[in-house]
Amino acid sequence: MKIKWIMVICTLLCVGVLAKAQIIHIETERISLVYGVNDEKLQQVHFGNHLSSVDGVEHLSTKFDEIYPSFGNGSSNEVALIATHADGSMATDLIYQNHQQSIDDNIQTTTILLKDEKKAFFVELNFKAYQAEDVIEQWVVIHHKEKKAVRLEQFASSTIGFKAESYYLTHFYGSWAKEMQMTEEKLCNGIKLIETKRGVRSTEYENPSFVLALDQKASDANGEVAMGALAWSGNFRFSFQVDDKENCQLVAGINPYASAYWLSPKEEFVTPRMILTYSNTGKNQASINLHRWARKYNLQDGDEERPIVLNSWEGAYFKFDADKLKSMMDGAAEMGVEVFVLDDGWFGNKYPRNSDKSGLGDWQVNKKKLPKGIGDLIDYAEGKGLQFGIWVEPEMVNPKSELAEQHPEWIIQRLNDREEILERSQLLLDLSNPEVQDFVFGVVDNVLTENPRIVYVKWDANRHIQNFGSTYLDADKQSHLWIDYTKGLEKVLAKLNEKYPDIIFQACASGGGRVDYGALNYTHEFWASDDTDPFERLFIQWGTNHIYPAIATGAHITKSPNHQTNRATPLKFRCDMAMGGRLGLELSPDNLDEKDIDYVKRVLETYKANRSIIQFGDLFRLNSPYDKDGYAAISYITPEKDEAVVMAYCHEFHRRDERALIKLQGLDEDAVYHISELNGNRKVNQVNEIGKEISGALLMNRGLFINMKKPYESVVIKLEKVR
Ligand code: GLA
Repeated sequence: MKIKWIMVICTLLCVGVLAKAQIIHIETERISLVYGVNDEKLQQVHFGNHLSSVDGVEHLSTKFDEIYPSFGNGSSNEVALIATHADGSMATDLIYQNHQQSIDDNIQTTTILLKDEKKAFFVELNFKAYQAEDVIEQWVVIHHKEKKAVRLEQFASSTIGFKAESYYLTHFYGSWAKEMQMTEEKLCNGIKLIETKRGVRSTEYENPSFVLALDQKASDANGEVAMGALAWSGNFRFSFQVDDKENCQLVAGINPYASAYWLSPKEEFVTPRMILTYSNTGKNQASINLHRWARKYNLQDGDEERPIVLNSWEGAYFKFDADKLKSMMDGAAEMGVEVFVLDDGWFGNKYPRNSDKSGLGDWQVNKKKLPKGIGDLIDYAEGKGLQFGIWVEPEMVNPKSELAEQHPEWIIQRLNDREEILERSQLLLDLSNPEVQDFVFGVVDNVLTENPRIVYVKWDANRHIQNFGSTYLDADKQSHLWIDYTKGLEKVLAKLNEKYPDIIFQACASGGGRVDYGALNYTHEFWASDDTDPFERLFIQWGTNHIYPAIATGAHITKSPNHQTNRATPLKFRCDMAMGGRLGLELSPDNLDEKDIDYVKRVLETYKANRSIIQFGDLFRLNSPYDKDGYAAISYITPEKDEAVVMAYCHEFHRRDERALIKLQGLDEDAVYHISELNGNRKVNQVNEIGKEISGALLMNRGLFINMKKPYESVVIKLEKVR
């Protein structure tokens, strides 16, 4: 990458037409976002394909969307900003002041300063454009020098305009055990809102991400699409407005819902980052862009291979003692697991955590279940060649706990003696309070200092904010709670990352309730769903992998029939589904027979040998489970295109001669690949070409027929370039 340094400081020169000196070109290798200053206002000229030149832009018609529109400037469209100024006036008119741009290696940085026409009120638009990954990150900093505090009522991270004949929006909705379901709709005139108002565990019902296809429905392999995600674990809102001129404008950021925020003259309000990418060859490329960017710039240690964990939850729930856990470790070690993770139930003495009804908040080892403590378990694990991890849920408390007795004021509550609303028998600690932040940090810090050999922490959060109210925040600042909670959480996580750079953190919130690039900035991975049924996972992981990479997607092999759905599936299907993400196990090996143990052992060996392809490779979605043909397929390919792993799943019954035709993508068409089967457990291969050498051109244009007819049959194929 060329290294250059450009500094442009532009001042206002003219009004009325786009002035060349005030063209701001935010660019990556394949994307351009072009702004111009027109009549002192910052306007968007273009978002989409990379423009090799913007010469002549000043001659273009000047009817463009204002960027970061504010309330009170005459516009009747959705705005990015609403502020009540210190003198009570509500109008804000943002005028371009100057901008600065620099390029350092792979990242172009842009800052644009806007100021209210009359008041010392400033909005700074910040951008990072990642050249090779084609991702643009945007966030906003608001500050002012007015005499008193300004009340912010709306504070988007980003606005972006799209121009097409029609717009198709895909978003990811769900509920507990059914996260990241996909739905696509054509946008009509008016506003479509995607949002959450749950504060915590906020991605369970709606993920802060979207795909917007222009002029045609979204396809993986062709067409123009924009894809975006907000890096924020709290309330978010995306509003897509199609106006009377058929323009579509997206306003994206923190949900302003009951969230008015006082900003005093010395403070800065920093919005979360909006992450955007664009592709003119379909949404698969857009996903690849986000995955590459996430591994390199957002996830913790995105360039390090992830170990295979066995998490104790579905294998033991709350019912265990040291002997049970040790026996699970025996099986785990035999199968080749690398980290044993002890889930919920290990703490609480006065109120033992033997169910979800009590003990949450009392982070002392339960003496009855584990009289020799955690250290004894770690010794045992290490003796077996396993590392050790542990579950915590430090933001929460059961009313039946010593913590709730000692610190009722730390609990988020509706105030004025209103009855508390319980969810999973628990309440939420008030992370807007720095004392509570210290406590929450201390929970994890204590566990890790007492047990320095722990390598993995599963951080759970099993309810959302419903009892809205804080004993810490002033009466006139109660509406800060939504935002200060999330910022408090981020502070704690950042402090833990700093003190424990080698710990692997998993973000879990009743399964996939914290799947967002905010949480993922401080963690390594997320637990995609409490639904571990591989058929359900076909859809959950399919939706998830649109936005989030496989390396971060916790996918575990569980028992059959499945605990959530009661569906029975073959072990191979369960293993092949877990292969699509960060593979792990969620069962008691005591419940597997010798044949199954042997099979899983082979699968783990195979995963280890191929995990670099899956965890760091580019994802290609080949056949959607949403299509009516009853098959699904994905593949991961190394950036060099010399190795690939293809996974194909059958989820419906097919007539006798029907076979799945899977056309591969992303290979080197001039190369020849050797084909082998992974995780095979049949005498006869389901793919005739196993053991043969076939060109990339044939594999991509003609494809492979796969012999799968019954529901829950699956095949994993490995391709290796031979010449
Ligand atoms: C949540 C998590 C599960 C498990 C339980 C423990 O539901 O999603 O994986 O950790 O809590 O209580």
